[in-house]
Amino acid sequence: MTKPDVTIRPLQEADLDDADRIMRLAFGTFLGLPDPGSFMGDADYVRSRWAADPDSALAAEVDGRLVGTNFVTRWGSVGFFGPLTVDPSLWDKGVARALLNETMPIFAQWGVSHAGLFTFPQSPKHLALYQSFGFLPHFLTSVLARPPAALDDAESAAGDWSAASQTPELEQVIAWCGRVTDETYPGLDVAREIRATATQKLGDTVLIFGDGEIDGFAVCHSGTGSEAGTGTCFIKFGAVLPGPGAPVRFARLVAACEAFAAGQGAQAMVAGVSTGRRGAYQILLERGYKAQLVGVTMHLPDQSAYHNASAWVIDDWR
Ligand SMILES: CC(C)(COP(=O)(O)OP(=O)(O)OC[C@H]1O[C@@H](n2cnc3c(N)ncnc32)[C@H](O)[C@@H]1OP(=O)(O)O)[C@@H](O)C(=O)NCCC(=O)NCCS
Repeated sequence: MTKPDVTIRPLQEADLDDADRIMRLAFGTFLGLPDPGSFMGDADYVRSRWAADPDSALAAEVDGRLVGTNFVTRWGSVGFFGPLTVDPSLWDKGVARALLNETMPIFAQWGVSHAGLFTFPQSPKHLALYQSFGFLPHFLTSVLARPPAALDDAESAAGDWSAASQTPELEQVIAWCGRVTDETYPGLDVAREIRATATQKLGDTVLIFGDGEIDGFAVCHSGTGSEAGTGTCFIKFGAVLPGPGAPVRFARLVAACEAFAAGQGAQAMVAGVSTGRRGAYQILLERGYKAQLVGVTMHLPDQSAYHNASAWVIDDWR
């Protein structure tokens, strides 16, 4: 089989329509949807991730035509990539490998201590491709969903909470949240998501406090054009301080997210969690969350980072 010449370059704003189309078509085709292009409805990954950091979005071209993209995300000391998608007409011709050949140096340049991705655990192709770059599969990550609790119930279970949009200083919010993530895993920092959510109006960052100090936070996407889509509140990243009392803080954070979602009129809450985070996973199941999608995270180096029982985190690296 002859493989085409693939050129990798930064993804430009003018590519975004095509990039979005390819992303939906690729996943929709892989998942066997009757209308592949309808994958994800009016939720968005391509535009919001490009806008969050245009320098870390890669485009693959063959004969001057966009045929694939990959989005690389830095959360402080942690990096992950995705969605990685290739036009189905060019599958198995080395396009993803070419994108990954340019992705790995980005992690090296950032100096992240941990890199990873979320993928389909049932696909030998996906696992083999990523293993060839040194990633190894660990725990499953469950993307869980349920309707939000009624506003009054969620409010009373949440206790005091506030939202970043009501706080005068976004940089102060980022510093508070940085304390929670750094205590969870050294150097973990999701400032990019907090800023992107505020500046692109993708939702809000929910904050909970105890004795005047930050206890936890969750970056919540909500509505069309965000990673949630219409009628959904998606917890893009949530965490509470680890250690004694973490289960109580975590349950309060989830309730606060539900109160936020109910206030937005969302009909569904979506939250991904590594099943390695035993306590966090268990609490979500007890609250009635059910898996709607199961993936596996792959890690480099071969360590769990914050995908283990000491971490009280909601995220899914999709
Ligand atoms: C997954 C995806 C990005 C791969 O893109 P691609 O351009 O087809 O991949 P490549 O051709 O670069 O590499 C595929 C590799 O898997 C190997 N492979 C294919 N089927 C395999 C199998 N059943 N078992 C083991 N390896 C397999 C190929 O031989 C190739 O390896 P090689 O370069 O050593 O020959 C593409 O199929 C896609 O867009 N899928 C839908 C969206 C998706 O799933 N994205 C990834 C989410 S994590």
